[in-house]
Amino acid sequence: MTERDSRTPDGRPPAEQPRWRRDFPIDVAEDAYVARRDFAKFSVLVSAAFATGQIWLLLRSIFRRRAPGAPPARVASVTDVPVGAAIAFRYPTERDPCLLVRRGKDEFVAYGSECTHLMCAVLPEVEKGRLRCPCHMGFFDLATGRPIAGPPRRRLPVVTLEVRDGGIWATGVKLESEQ
Ligand code: FES
Repeated sequence: MTERDSRTPDGRPPAEQPRWRRDFPIDVAEDAYVARRDFAKFSVLVSAAFATGQIWLLLRSIFRRRAPGAPPARVASVTDVPVGAAIAFRYPTERDPCLLVRRGKDEFVAYGSECTHLMCAVLPEVEKGRLRCPCHMGFFDLATGRPIAGPPRRRLPVVTLEVRDGGIWATGVKLESEQ
């Protein structure tokens, strides 16, 4: 029995209380107090966990994309990607999923394909000029990688490209702070 339980309404010690009160020692008013206190505790814990998760995702994203001197990598042949099509690749490491999209005859864009909200995979909607994250309906501008709707606030990492010798090459990754 807790200290609060021992404060009985009629002032008699707990041992002299009727059986029903011993079985249910918390009064309605106290019960509401406990519920509010527990709710406040729960809210603080959930907020702290959420903030920690966001910081962890941000740091992970920054450190994983920092691959100084990552060598250029051939992503595909130009002929492999028709206008309006997209292909998935990984750059600068095998743990970094990216999307290459051909917007026009000579126009290619590529981005890290993990949503900057909570890292779900984004999907190209080339005809609508955007990338969509299905998890919480986040949208990014296909031309720039900037968030245009939904929860994401940060731009997708931009993979810089070079077209040479009939191939499309990834040559680096620019994070939001560098764009
Ligand atoms: S993970 Fe993309 S909008 Fe939430």
